[in-house]
Amino acid sequence: MLKAVILIGGPQKGTRFRPLSLDTPKPLFPIAGLPLIQHHIEACAKLEACKEILIIGSYTTSHMQQFVTDMAKEYHVIIRYLQEFTALGTGGGLYHFRDQVRAGNPTAFFLLNGDVCADFPLKDLWHFHEEKPNALVTIMGTEATRQQSVHYGCMVCESGSKSVTHYVEKPNSYVSTLINCGVYVCSLQVFHTMADAFQKKQDRFYSGNGHSNPGYMSWEQDVLAPLAGTNKLYAMQVNNWWSQVKTAGSAIYANRHYLELHKERTCTNATCTVLPDVFVHPTATVDPTAVIGPNVSIGAGVTIKAGVRIKESIVLNNATINEHALVMYSVVGQEASVGEWSRVEGTPSDPDPNKPFAKMDNTPLFNTDGRLNPSITILGASVVVPAETILLNSIVLPHKHLTRSFKHEIIL
Ligand code: GDD
Ligand code: GTP
Repeated sequence: MLKAVILIGGPQKGTRFRPLSLDTPKPLFPIAGLPLIQHHIEACAKLEACKEILIIGSYTTSHMQQFVTDMAKEYHVIIRYLQEFTALGTGGGLYHFRDQVRAGNPTAFFLLNGDVCADFPLKDLWHFHEEKPNALVTIMGTEATRQQSVHYGCMVCESGSKSVTHYVEKPNSYVSTLINCGVYVCSLQVFHTMADAFQKKQDRFYSGNGHSNPGYMSWEQDVLAPLAGTNKLYAMQVNNWWSQVKTAGSAIYANRHYLELHKERTCTNATCTVLPDVFVHPTATVDPTAVIGPNVSIGAGVTIKAGVRIKESIVLNNATINEHALVMYSVVGQEASVGEWSRVEGTPSDPDPNKPFAKMDNTPLFNTDGRLNPSITILGASVVVPAETILLNSIVLPHKHLTRSFKHEIIL
């Protein structure tokens, strides 16, 4: 029997995803019509041997309960949300709930960062891990560019055995272009290594020079780094699509890839002109004269009126796009409305297509001159854009009723 653990952090994480994470926790933000971590759940539930999925985070249970109930019903697998009393880090939460992971004596468990997206090759990862004697953890790795690699966990591997000899989390200077994807398979004995790491933390805390929260543990720094070079840590390199979901721009990028991966779920019943890939929720109302796609997700209860054009965007539940409006490289928040003949447009922040292995750059909001970097346009929940206005590369916080056009601005 196998289990899976999904780490989702809490309200203090995922701040670069604001304002999209102000009313929906980031792990539940819909990408290609499914909440971000539903893609993880789906990948785990596909494995017959995976009997339980534990979601660990510090969001309150009320935020997660409905989702967990819905998922358990849909995928016929045991799913539970375990709430950390405070953010314990990527390792602390897992260690705190170790008895829940060990219950039923699974052979191994998958560990998945909730903020990545990929076509999770879990079966391959499991087979790879099974074949390695003494392996405690196998990391799914991928190639990044030299410059970008330093923003991830970097690994050096023995070429034959794939045993990780060196692991550095977000190094200051270049170490390796093989990076950690935040997807792992772990044997239960890893909890012994975690117990040692935990003990060291306690010793440091009581001698007065440790982290202010002694329960805090970094999976990467306190567990993976010490395991490197012991023949207990392995890396399986994949070349499939993989990306982090950190900024709102990366949601548009992930949307495109998940739509492509799950073509079977994409638009079936809309009567308008559809340029694939498009997901339209069955409860959305779309005028037959609208043109939608490519790479668009339309949420539940959305109304799209005559002559509307939408491409490369996500439109969230119950939003209204009025006659002849254009929406491009944007996220339209829940209950928001875009007026007739208005233009809501952003700039994509895709990986550089000319650089092999380039990933999304999670560029900061402002550049060094203090100017807003061009990015996708985001309308927060219940924002109203009047008729005949232009909104370019702007972020509008929830509930704002705009009265004019804006370019390159954050509208509070
Ligand atoms: N439960 C819980 N508690 N989850 C947490 C906590 C916590 O205190 N802190 C972070 N997480 C979750 C986040 O929600 C996210 O899904 C995941 O753990 C990774 O945490 P981050 O702190 O955001 O790390 P990162 O994304 O910058 O880097 C990690 O992922 C990269 C790949 O995306 C590292 O594992 C890197 O080595 C890796 O390359
Ligand atoms: P994740 O997306 O889940 O990693 O969480 P996050 O978005 O909250 O990101 P994190 O806290 O890791 O910070 C992201 C980047 O923003 C880092 O480079 C931080 O140094 C920077 N940062 C975070 N908070 C602040 C802040 O208040 N001011 C400034 N100037 N930078 C910040």
